[in-house]
Amino acid sequence: MRAILDAIVTKKSGGTLSNETVREVVEGYTSGEIPDYQMSALLMAIFIQGMDYGETLALTRAMAESGETYSFPNCVDKHSTGGVGDKVSLTSLPIVAACGAPVAKLSGRGLGTTGGTIDKLEAIPGFSVALSREQFERQVDEVGLAIIEAGNLDPADKAIYALRDATRLVDSLPLIGSSIVSKKAATGAGHLLYDVKRGSGAFMKSTEDARELADLLVRLSGDLGVRAAALISDMDNPLGNAIGNALEIRESMKLLKGEEVPADLAETARSVAVRLLELKGMHDPEEAVERAISSGAAFEKFGEFVRAQGGDADALEDLPVSDSVREVSAPRGGYVAVVRALGIGHAALALGAGREEKGDTIDPGAGVEILVKAGDLVEKGEPVARLYGGRNVEHAEELVNEALELSDEPVERPPAILDGL
Ligand code: URA
Repeated sequence: MRAILDAIVTKKSGGTLSNETVREVVEGYTSGEIPDYQMSALLMAIFIQGMDYGETLALTRAMAESGETYSFPNCVDKHSTGGVGDKVSLTSLPIVAACGAPVAKLSGRGLGTTGGTIDKLEAIPGFSVALSREQFERQVDEVGLAIIEAGNLDPADKAIYALRDATRLVDSLPLIGSSIVSKKAATGAGHLLYDVKRGSGAFMKSTEDARELADLLVRLSGDLGVRAAALISDMDNPLGNAIGNALEIRESMKLLKGEEVPADLAETARSVAVRLLELKGMHDPEEAVERAISSGAAFEKFGEFVRAQGGDADALEDLPVSDSVREVSAPRGGYVAVVRALGIGHAALALGAGREEKGDTIDPGAGVEILVKAGDLVEKGEPVARLYGGRNVEHAEELVNEALELSDEPVERPPAILDGL
């Protein structure tokens, strides 16, 4: 195949790939015609030399069109770049659906310390993420909210992402941007909000890097016909208190029922919902969001969505979690400076809430409940976390202790939303 050799030669000397070359390479690699060793050489050259905006857009478009595509121009969708305790899809989407903005979402499973919405939903007894295309489209029309697992969408991204992972070439801005936006463009929702996470538990460690990614995601989406906006939100600390699949559903239900949840979760879920409704052109979205929660409409919408996908909505009130529970206490008194998201993510993973490798089995009832937030004053011996699950409990306790940083000086609570565009 000539295109891949041309592409390697062009890119290794810092040249620019043509749209035709990009498309031929994407098609050739997806069909198996281009071997991994040649594609790896090209990805390494791209990693080192970068890609200009035109090349990145061509790559995004070619990947988006590499498999099945959906079209939901009236629907909204959101994408999070991934974090620990991130239950913003589970909370903001039923809210916007209850406000009359239909949601069609294709979602993924968790890997490493990053959770996945599909795993969280599967913690609900009977819930199925395997709807046919017709069932999915009908549910979007009738219920206004459907979430399924991304199946044959964007096979080019699946293949290229696996190769980037195996060759440690994930952290390249044009490759991350094209990977994310190609999947969203293939899903076909007309209005899209990106929640770009920044911090120790996120891909992007600094606000500047997160802003650069957010800019790229919004620009690529716009050029592919999707009306998009972005928020940059904190992921130095886990979002909310719950980390783990059933635990996160439980915390999400509290928010939807209007009960008290940590301020960072309440603010992020509401901001995402408001921005989505703004993208849809809704008048006074803040008031609509508050009404959807206080009237019970958002919680009812979630129940309707769960029933439509075969789940037991009655179980939502008290979803079972592991009955093997251990409490972790503060080693000394002080102000909580940070509960490091990455460390807590590793603790939840050790307890069985996530997967080290694709295909690992997870325990839906396992996870960590954080009992303190940055800025809180704690006393020595006060419970700071509860561990759920029977695997690696000692190790998980060590990880939670390491993740908790205490200060002698008062600490200001970090803002949940850092920026928006
Ligand atoms: N998430 C994606 O979907 N793709 C990337 O490349 C990185 C994060």
